[in-house]
Amino acid sequence: MELDQELGANDELFQAQRHIYKHMYHYLESMSLKCAVQLGIPDIIHKHDKPITLPELASALQVPPTKASCLLRVMRILVHSGFFATTKIHENRGGEEGYILTTSSSLLLKDSSTSLTTTVLAMLDPELITPWFSLSDCFQGNELTAFETYHGITFLEYGKQNLEFNNLLNEAMACDSQLVSLIVKNHKEIFEGVASLVDVGGGTGTLARTISDAYPHMKCTVLDLPQVVANLPESKNVKFVAGDMFQSIPSAEAVLIKSVLHNWSDEACVKILKQCREAIASTDKGGKLIIIEMVINEKKDESNNQLAETKLFADLQMMLVCTGRERNEQEWARLFLEAGFNRYKMTATCGLNSIIEVYP
Ligand SMILES: C[S@@+](CC[C@H](N)C(=O)[O-])C[C@H]1O[C@@H](n2cnc3c(N)ncnc32)[C@H](O)[C@@H]1O
Repeated sequence: MELDQELGANDELFQAQRHIYKHMYHYLESMSLKCAVQLGIPDIIHKHDKPITLPELASALQVPPTKASCLLRVMRILVHSGFFATTKIHENRGGEEGYILTTSSSLLLKDSSTSLTTTVLAMLDPELITPWFSLSDCFQGNELTAFETYHGITFLEYGKQNLEFNNLLNEAMACDSQLVSLIVKNHKEIFEGVASLVDVGGGTGTLARTISDAYPHMKCTVLDLPQVVANLPESKNVKFVAGDMFQSIPSAEAVLIKSVLHNWSDEACVKILKQCREAIASTDKGGKLIIIEMVINEKKDESNNQLAETKLFADLQMMLVCTGRERNEQEWARLFLEAGFNRYKMTATCGLNSIIEVYP
């Protein structure tokens, strides 16, 4: 082999080595993010009201001096991955730098209405992380999900038996719904003029309450399992109904279902969708089903690699815990057809979710 050919081949090998190392270590970014959230670093920086130096941050966290350099190293990776930024604070004192929030870490402030703090803590909870160690077992004569393989019981059963874990997940979903609320406000054309709406699997009603605030003429009903909706406070326009979406859904002009269908197999989804179709009260203006979910679109998302990758990760997360999945447009269309719907319209939002309006 010529020398420059050999160097070229080596270059490719070293690139491959970097590629493998990067992905081997990538979980450390997730763990550093979780550490920052657990320590409340975004809130400390926010409260400081100006760029915070490492010694100031260490002091706020009461980090012993021997651990200050560890804090620096965790902050360094989080700056590298865009969760924090640094800025010079004392030009005249040798350009000392301080940490500031980025838009991503501003979503990790505990009291912000759009906080994703609980979502990070839930998704990176050991109960959800450890089943990944059973993934390969799932491909070797094992019909169970990785969650079931590891914990010995299904995800749903685990939630029922571990109230704390269940509450954390419910809170995480509620956090996500707060951000989705922005979508609802930004897409008035979808909700305006709807007189009544039922949110199927609507959890503790975060989304229904936001819709009701944004469209005060609308009567909203939240349908969820008895253990989820028991004793929740109702308001004039937001009512809770305990029930089973596989059996019956209260009638309304618009049926909304967010982040529920991805938990279920195609067969179960068709059953739920048929119940949704039954529940749509026909009016002069025509009723509809509104689905808020991810649509995997590898080709279109290719221009935004982060978006495509995140949706594929979300799909794996579903695979870990249940028989559900994230779906592409063709997979969604097949379900709508099987459930007896006529047509649909997909609207991509600037977040991870799309809005799909489906008509009987
Ligand atoms: C992933 S959470 C989504 C919650 C909410 N839509 C959101 O986006 O925040 C799924 C919800 O479906 C509810 N659910 C599961 N099985 C159900 C059933 N058979 N009937 C009604 N709700 C159900 C769960 O209790 C849970 O609140």
